[in-house]
Amino acid sequence: MYFPLTFTFCSVDYFLGILQVGTFTIKGQSIITKVLDAALACGYRFIDTAAVYRNEEEIAIALKELLPKYGLLRSDLFLTSKLAPADHGKDRVRQAVLDSLSRLNTPYLDLYLVHWPGAGRLPSQSPANRNIRIDTWRELEKLQNEGKLRSIGVSNYLESHLKELLSATTVKPAVNQVELHPHFPQKDLVKFCNQEGILVQAYSSLGGHSSHILLADPQVKQVAKVEGKSVSQVLLKWAVQQGIGVIPKSIHPERIKENFCLDFTLSSESMRALSSLKIDQKYAWDPRSVV
Ligand SMILES: NC(=O)c1ccc[n+]([C@@H]2O[C@H](COP(=O)([O-])OP(=O)(O)OC[C@H]3O[C@@H](n4cnc5c(N)ncnc54)[C@H](OP(=O)(O)O)[C@@H]3O)[C@@H](O)[C@H]2O)c1
Repeated sequence: MYFPLTFTFCSVDYFLGILQVGTFTIKGQSIITKVLDAALACGYRFIDTAAVYRNEEEIAIALKELLPKYGLLRSDLFLTSKLAPADHGKDRVRQAVLDSLSRLNTPYLDLYLVHWPGAGRLPSQSPANRNIRIDTWRELEKLQNEGKLRSIGVSNYLESHLKELLSATTVKPAVNQVELHPHFPQKDLVKFCNQEGILVQAYSSLGGHSSHILLADPQVKQVAKVEGKSVSQVLLKWAVQQGIGVIPKSIHPERIKENFCLDFTLSSESMRALSSLKIDQKYAWDPRSVV
């Protein structure tokens, strides 16, 4: 995968898409500009969005103002967007990518993900999803060859979806972005992706819309207390220390900064404690129904 950026903040090298700023549910020009201003100020250079977040245009407008403010160029950033489930399939993918490029006002995306293994217009159980997924991927391979997409990957793919893709196509997905946190650690999927050289990016590391549950977990709070860090920092570091990328989302500048400061190492006891909560609770949408 093409990852051009390595830089240092809080004495940690951030690279390989390990720490991105999430933008799901952040909408409205002033709030997008405030969030990206705070993120760029503390050192985030990777921004995660998606067509379905409907904030790509607002991100482009914010960056037009903020890049000169921080003396940055487009090439200093790493932009990820995603294909909407409704745009799966040979006839729709190209236009969807061109639309995202236009909304984000950029000639290329650093990473483009298939957001969901199912085609939006088909039932999850329809066997037709399989061929549509392959058609989608072949179209993305072409767009990558043309330089419009520097790297391509998937999101919410199960091991079965990945195996099917690997056996039918030539370019391996660079990334699989999935829900992952100590309440839903997805150990087998992580093992499979590691074996295949697919970078796992965790979303909803703080529990997504159920963050009030994960952030209040007594065992997670205990680890945070022992480590002398915030609950969100230990949740993020737990993933990063396993080589898993994270995409924390916040609309609060002080939390955006807190989530970026991961220059510590969790002890093996803390890692073990977070990895063995024995709670199998998924909080976001569930791809297990998609054949
Ligand atoms: N590929 C996919 O299907 C998919 C699905 C979901 C998300 N994502 C991506 O992953 C990103 C992150 O996931 P997410 O949006 O579900 O949420 P998340 O990162 O788990 O955050 C959940 C909530 O935690 C709060 N929070 C953040 N930092 C905090 C801190 N330091 N202390 C206390 N609370 C804190 C935030 O609320 P406040 O804003 O009020 O601070 C936020 O709404 C998304 O923004 C998106 O880019 C991808």
